[in-house]
Amino acid sequence: MYREPLVVANWKMNTNLADATVLAQAIKKDLENIHDVQIIICPPFVWLYPLFEIFQHKPNYFHLGAQDVYFEKNGAFTGAVSAEMLKDLVDYVIVGHSERHLYFSETEETANKKVKAVIEAGLKAILCVGEEKKINPGDDKVIISQLEKKLDGIPEKDLEHIVIAYEPVWAIGTGVAASGGYANAVAEDIRAFIAKKYSQAAGEQIRILYGGSVKSDNVLEFTGQPEIDGILAGGASLKAKEFIEICHRI
Ligand code: PGA
Repeated sequence: MYREPLVVANWKMNTNLADATVLAQAIKKDLENIHDVQIIICPPFVWLYPLFEIFQHKPNYFHLGAQDVYFEKNGAFTGAVSAEMLKDLVDYVIVGHSERHLYFSETEETANKKVKAVIEAGLKAILCVGEEKKINPGDDKVIISQLEKKLDGIPEKDLEHIVIAYEPVWAIGTGVAASGGYANAVAEDIRAFIAKKYSQAAGEQIRILYGGSVKSDNVLEFTGQPEIDGILAGGASLKAKEFIEICHRI
């Protein structure tokens, strides 16, 4: 079945205002005529508004995304940003990235609350899962257990607002990507889990991305796989030429 490909750029805690503007403008200019792929740029929170202005008259395959969110709507939560605040600026929010778990003590339970808050605000969640150490084929208990917790209490009707990003932690920022076959096997198991938990149709429809050291010269190894519908790029999304090349290759 056809699932529209997605490319997500996760800029993480990089760029200053000038860099962010130049990068966004380069991407917008070059990709203005690209087709059949959705592009989601996730800058740091502080650059969302300037980028919103740059992409204001954008073609509808360009989207802005946030890298995180807090699950409460508003109130005395110093430093936090809610989905309610984001909803006029972005279409997507990355939730449960492994760096949130590693450096900010986020748990699967908080990621679950964030997914619910994102959907309630009318946004889409890019829900990350991934193992810390390489696994043997078929032994993806860790990933399935993360999914169980992060999707807890989420009904099938909300799945259309969720994209799953499979990101093996050992491949993130290391320059050592998983092989296409390895990533595809995990994506297949994720699809089977969704089919079992919800329905066959849900398993077929959900979009699954691969992330972890994706570059222009290995992107086709992932997007050429039947179960993988796009990629999430970190480091490579900070270089205009490299990121544009990735989008063109898909
Ligand atoms: P990377 O990051 O492309 O730099 O490995 C991917 C991610 O963490 O989203």
